[in-house]
Amino acid sequence: MTIRWKHLIVLAIIAPILGLAVGWSGLMSVRASTGHWAATDWFLHWVMRNSVSAREVATGDVPPLDDPGLLPGAAGHFETGCAVCHGSPAQPRPDSVLAMLPPPPDLKEVVPEWSDAELFEIVKHGVRFTGMPAWPVQSRDDEVWSMVAFLRKLPDMDASAYIQASGLHGIGHAGEVSPLPITCESCHAEAKLNDGSYIPRLAGQSEAYLLDALKAYADKQRPSGIMQVAVGTLSVESLPELAAYYANQKPGPRADAAPDPALIEKGRLLAEQGRTADKIPACLSCHDKQGGNPAYPKLSGQNSAYLQNQLTLFQSGGRGGSEYHHLMTGASKELTANDISAVAAYFSAR
Ligand code: HEC
Ligand code: HEC
Ligand code: HEC
Repeated sequence: MTIRWKHLIVLAIIAPILGLAVGWSGLMSVRASTGHWAATDWFLHWVMRNSVSAREVATGDVPPLDDPGLLPGAAGHFETGCAVCHGSPAQPRPDSVLAMLPPPPDLKEVVPEWSDAELFEIVKHGVRFTGMPAWPVQSRDDEVWSMVAFLRKLPDMDASAYIQASGLHGIGHAGEVSPLPITCESCHAEAKLNDGSYIPRLAGQSEAYLLDALKAYADKQRPSGIMQVAVGTLSVESLPELAAYYANQKPGPRADAAPDPALIEKGRLLAEQGRTADKIPACLSCHDKQGGNPAYPKLSGQNSAYLQNQLTLFQSGGRGGSEYHHLMTGASKELTANDISAVAAYFSAR
């Protein structure tokens, strides 16, 4: 018998009805307790792998990931946002998550199977139908890349290296690892902030500005997946106390790389005079000025890598902040990459 178009039409009508009938019959089990058949498991992972490879960013777009300044923020976030499911070098995965279907894998083992671009795709977008969540903020990629940089280091980390990097565990009396509650100090402690760190110094910052920044993270007016998770569980009433606490801290000693005097001099000129030809205002007309608006942040002594990163975010329109943040979008628009390095070097050394 030759297959005619009439047969195809009949098939097209019957197939969905059959599918619905199987679904209605209750024969298909959604029980997680029995696990997947090996074939289903293989099929789902094959689909996932293909989806990830098809959507990964081009290899040329992978930024340099060997910058050690990327790690402190990502390690702290890993402990709060990822270790609950994936475990860490300091703690095995809890039994409760091993009962998930599929169970979250031990990342030490699977990370080497993926390229940087593939890890970025997974961490940014999550994996549907598995419990693997997307990154909390989709509008900026630099934080996701810092997590990829951290994941690359994970297979070589033992418990003590991990505890030191993430800052979120304490060792109990009997030597057992006991998770401490999320604290701001795990990331913002002065001892954890070398000059290359992308985490800002808070000690001595203006109180009004710190409060505005915390509110902006909580209200999602300033996109950061890392800070959004850190403030997510706090009540609005606790924010003024935190702002006051950090504003009254004295900045500690610094361990910076030797600054480049020519770069600092260029930064000083820009900060004091701006550049009229490019409509760049003098930074010091707003920042670090006696009697200036307390909602404008203090930049002197801030980490240079952090300042550069924020200026790049302002330029791309991805920074957000308080009701005044638009002032910076204009002020940063015409800065070149070299200008940004120069003002960051100047303020951080000041
Ligand atoms: C609620 C639990 C949960 C949380 C939280 C979670 N994951 Fe996952 N993750 C999973 C599950 C489940 C899978 C398995 C997906 C699969 O098998 O297809 C997974 C898969 C992955 C994979 C792919 C590994 C592989 O080979 O299948 C990576 C990489 C990953 N997660 C990284 C992270 C990072 C980084 C974080 C924190 C930002 C995180 N995950 C947070 C549950 C979680
Ligand atoms: C997991 C690491 C981590 C934890 C925990 C953390 N922070 Fe942050 N914090 C960061 C990073 C990274 C940034 C920079 C984010 C950005 O690019 O906007 C930041 C930014 C900030 C800023 C903005 C500073 C500025 O100059 O604009 C404030 C204020 C702040 N954090 C306060 C806190 C407080 C208070 C807590 C505790 C409730 C806390 N952070 C917990 C990593 C962390
Ligand atoms: C008209 C006033 C004004 C001028 C001029 C100005 N800024 Fe700003 N700047 C602000 C305000 C306001 C903020 C805080 C934005 C927010 O988060 O709400 C800010 C924030 C910043 C931040 C982020 C600090 C942090 O802790 O996150 C950096 C970096 C910065 N400015 C650098 C500069 C540089 C460099 C110049 C000069 C080229 C400059 N600013 C000129 C008003 C100004």
